[in-house]
Amino acid sequence: MEIDVFTLFPDAFAWFERQRHVANALAAGHRLRYVNYRDHTPLKAGQVDDTPFGGGAGMVLRVDVVEAALADTYGVDPVRLPAQRRVIALTPTGRLLDEELAGELAREPALTLLCGRYEGFDQRIVEHFASEEVSIGRYVLAGGELAAMVVCDAVLRKLPGALGDERSAIEESFSAALEGGPEYPHYTRPAEHRGWGVPEVLLSGHHARIAQWRLEQSRARADAAARERPLP
Ligand code: 6GU
Repeated sequence: MEIDVFTLFPDAFAWFERQRHVANALAAGHRLRYVNYRDHTPLKAGQVDDTPFGGGAGMVLRVDVVEAALADTYGVDPVRLPAQRRVIALTPTGRLLDEELAGELAREPALTLLCGRYEGFDQRIVEHFASEEVSIGRYVLAGGELAAMVVCDAVLRKLPGALGDERSAIEESFSAALEGGPEYPHYTRPAEHRGWGVPEVLLSGHHARIAQWRLEQSRARADAAARERPLP
């Protein structure tokens, strides 16, 4: 798959690209590209944002700048883009990212992620150039870059070859193998530390009993989570 990230801070993604699963996905032929809005602005002095009409604090990403960046990158009028690929505006109020959405996005051949800055986007960007808005949680970040990395991380690790061991993605939190529940607890050496032991069953070598214990642990965690946070 190919993911294009539109941002004012492409350098912010350098660390992200060095992560093993991301590097693996790129080595397998998937692509991550960055487009800096500033390289495409039709305005002087690299201007990309402006003060909001009606007054108020902060700066808003300009619709003409985003249009130029999209048009230069894809060679079409960006109003036609959402018919060709999912164009995601990262906003605090968008559709909440969860495993289901991550899986949905991982099945796309191409994605475009638009990062906002400061007070966010001119609404006409969201309305005319984006196919949807996605949020990574109900809190406000200073910009969309961290959210874009979160989306890319959750999506790329689902692609074949991204994880060193494909078994990692089969039995993990929210997976069908665990009935959509949280993952069971893990332990590793030493088998005893400060008198803290490890559940005996995990040392037994008895694979069927281990699988049963893990499923029970996952179910118990799901029940505990449901008691702590009842569904609205
Ligand atoms: Cl996607 N963007 C920003 N700026 N803040 C957020 C967010 C996105 N998701 C949660 N908070």
